[in-house]
Amino acid sequence: MNKLSSNPINSLKGIVNIPGDKSISHRSLILGALSIGITKIDGIAFSEDILNLIKTLKALGVKIIIKGKIIIVHGVGIGGLKKTKKLYMGNSGTATRLMMGVLSNQEFKVNISGDKSLSKRPMQRIIEPLTKMGAEIKSKNGKLPIIIKGVNETLPINYNLIIPSAQIKSSILLASLGTPGLTTIVENIPTRDHTEILLKLFGAKIQIKRKKNKNLILLKGQKELIAKNITISGDPSSASIVGAAALITPNSEIKIKKVNINKTRSTFFNVLKKMNANIHISKKGCVSNEEIADITFKSSQLKGVHLEKKTVSGMIDEIPIFSIIAAFASSNSSFSGGEELKYKESNRIDSIYSGLLKCKVKVKKKLNGLSIISNKNKPYGGSTIQTNFDHRIAMSFLIMGIASVKKIKINESNCIKTSFPDFVNLINNLGAKIS
Ligand code: S3P
Repeated sequence: MNKLSSNPINSLKGIVNIPGDKSISHRSLILGALSIGITKIDGIAFSEDILNLIKTLKALGVKIIIKGKIIIVHGVGIGGLKKTKKLYMGNSGTATRLMMGVLSNQEFKVNISGDKSLSKRPMQRIIEPLTKMGAEIKSKNGKLPIIIKGVNETLPINYNLIIPSAQIKSSILLASLGTPGLTTIVENIPTRDHTEILLKLFGAKIQIKRKKNKNLILLKGQKELIAKNITISGDPSSASIVGAAALITPNSEIKIKKVNINKTRSTFFNVLKKMNANIHISKKGCVSNEEIADITFKSSQLKGVHLEKKTVSGMIDEIPIFSIIAAFASSNSSFSGGEELKYKESNRIDSIYSGLLKCKVKVKKKLNGLSIISNKNKPYGGSTIQTNFDHRIAMSFLIMGIASVKKIKINESNCIKTSFPDFVNLINNLGAKIS
């Protein structure tokens, strides 16, 4: 166990770059591997999840060279992966679900496993559509380990996406690259659309239509993808965690450069504005068809806010840090409709609830959500938090320690490596005292 302790401080200041977006990093590597030609990727997040995906793609016969901060991927084409017997996905739900889509198009059998946390996460949600598309999948009650055998030509399907999940959507889109027909996905609540953006860039026949508040995504398969050089913008979920620290700490100002502000990823920034947060978003154009901005976060007098399902869905990875800053607000906050939070790296509703209680914050459980009760005084802290091996829980409570009355410890910090290995260094350079 690798414990960390975060001590209260008086100010945070500085200008930083944040690691490349994890979702775009996963997708760039996968599409680079499936295309014809050489893809150079700049600014990838060198986190454990990404290093595991690189190992996976190499095991499947893709030549990948790391040259400083550039990754060079030698594509093998849509159905061109090499047979291998076993793949280990570590902690990454994104890599697992997206690669299962890819493997549905490969005519061999492979066993997929992951770490303890990943092995508890639901996979039935992708087994069901991928089976309809022709893949043969055996699982342990809908969880890892999984044996998947793909087919040369997947079948086109019409899929109504009931669970708002970009991973399910992306898995189906990747599987549909090998079909001779048209795959249609109806998305009822919009989720991050990096797969669609990158598929377009790589030359896939993909169309997105808006119909009665729903997204209709149409993909015609069997069109070769053409390699493209990709620049990855800063991860808005990591930026949210670092930026939030400035909002709740006195005398603070942090500027984070080149953050991805794709509409499907900016919900938390919009919620912050409603909470009276002192943030300024200065647009800087586009990289690889994704909008970016420099964002400045300053100390703020936050007020509470109540979030409904659609909003929660748009900031599913930011709910832990939202809950922390809500504890510093001058009025009550709540969120509901967050059923998906139970299926992340930990059951995030439980992890946040017990963490906040330990820090002497008044918090109540709701159906698929929490109410966070405001207090005139700032949160006390002074406790050791169980991260449940969840990187976002670990980082969020370390941020809370920066601005609480007493220091906050976390029982386990290795999980932070899955998305943001340099987190402690970066935040300490801004003035935090985490050791
Ligand atoms: C991700 C999608 C989200 C998110 C995860 C990354 C992705 O999951 O929580 O961290 O890259 O597609 P779901 O869309 O499945 O909820």
